Amino acid sequence: VHVGDGTLPLAALDLVERGIRKVALVTHPALWTRYGAALARALTAWGVEAHPIPIGPGERSKSLRVVARIYDALVDAKIDRGGAVLALGGGVVGDAAGFAAATYLRGVGLVHLPTTLLAQVDASIGGKTAVNLAAKNLVGVFWQPLAVHADVRTLRSLPARELRCGLAEAIKHAAIADAGLFDWTEARLSDLVRRDAATLVELVARNAEIKAGVVAADERELTGAREVLNFGHTVGHAVEAVRGYRGITHGEAVSVGMSVEAEIGVRLGIASAADAARLRRALSAAGLPTRMPSGSVGPVLERMSLDKKVRAGAWRLSLMGSLGTARVGVVVEPALVREVIIAMTEPTP
Ligand SMILES: NC(=O)c1ccc[n+]([C@@H]2O[C@H](COP(=O)([O-])OP(=O)(O)OC[C@H]3O[C@@H](n4cnc5c(N)ncnc54)[C@H](O)[C@@H]3O)[C@@H](O)[C@H]2O)c1
Ligand SMILES: [Zn+2]
Repeated sequence: VHVGDGTLPLAALDLVERGIRKVALVTHPALWTRYGAALARALTAWGVEAHPIPIGPGERSKSLRVVARIYDALVDAKIDRGGAVLALGGGVVGDAAGFAAATYLRGVGLVHLPTTLLAQVDASIGGKTAVNLAAKNLVGVFWQPLAVHADVRTLRSLPARELRCGLAEAIKHAAIADAGLFDWTEARLSDLVRRDAATLVELVARNAEIKAGVVAADERELTGAREVLNFGHTVGHAVEAVRGYRGITHGEAVSVGMSVEAEIGVRLGIASAADAARLRRALSAAGLPTRMPSGSVGPVLERMSLDKKVRAGAWRLSLMGSLGTARVGVVVEPALVREVIIAMTEPTP
């Protein structure tokens, strides 16, 4: 994982050093104009043939239909096992292009060039690829990239709401794995929100390291070590699903989820009220919501009981312990979840 400011063109050099002579650059049209075309010029200058494959923005591009279009374009460009797919974009491009790279010719090289903070701190690390069918991420494979090049300069054009999404995952990483990073992040939230480049570089590098460390211990999600990353996500996924994935971003839902789940930890005596309050303050300072949207208690609880991670009967959550530590597989009574969710729901306007 390479993290820098203005370092995207160096990805071209990295490809040359790997002996890759032909690549397909999967990206959204707007990102092609902003960043892709210049990268393609750098590639050409280094003698690497670059073929753009534009895909539309939005979650709907994580589909088998779009992946089939990518396969056709890879055939047209005559990409073979010696070539590579470059995924220039957020988690949507990373997941769809990653799935195509993992399956085309039974797998070709993949290089992630994440351009959202969420993709830089989270989605580009860990080797998960997927497309959506009846459910989100229903079909996918694990496919590790050859390299990840995160250039924080690309975050300058990112909408503020998308930046906050990435901050939610970064705050999560610190909360479950690194108390020192939590202190550091908490103290720099205003620098991060105004996108100070040096601060972003350090944030991305430290987060990528945490995620890579967790994933290395459980690459295929078999041992449970990766479960620590689910903090905030059991409640968060339910909130997102109930809202039909509209009107609330993943990061906002996870922010609400972390706030609720931290409070559940307080009630169970595994987290302190002071740590839970500090977490909520950090999320608020990052511009993220910390209370459940009104009117969602019943549907969210119902949805949670369908979550595969909740498992039959017993509800098992990954919670924050003291700040910087995680507790996985914590058995929680549905009644307690209900109580906390009700206590943390915004009053009906
Ligand atoms: N593979 C994993 O481990 C993993 C982990 C977390 C999330 N995900 C997936 O990631 C997806 C969400 O990713 P995301 O939050 O990056 O969303 P996204 O890829 O949809 O990007 C968000 C929006 O920002 C735009 N954009 C991207 N980079 C930009 C830039 N530099 N400047 C301006 N606009 C830019 C995109 O076009 C899009 O409209 C979900 O599908 C989720 O399932 C995967
Ligand atoms: Zn997440």
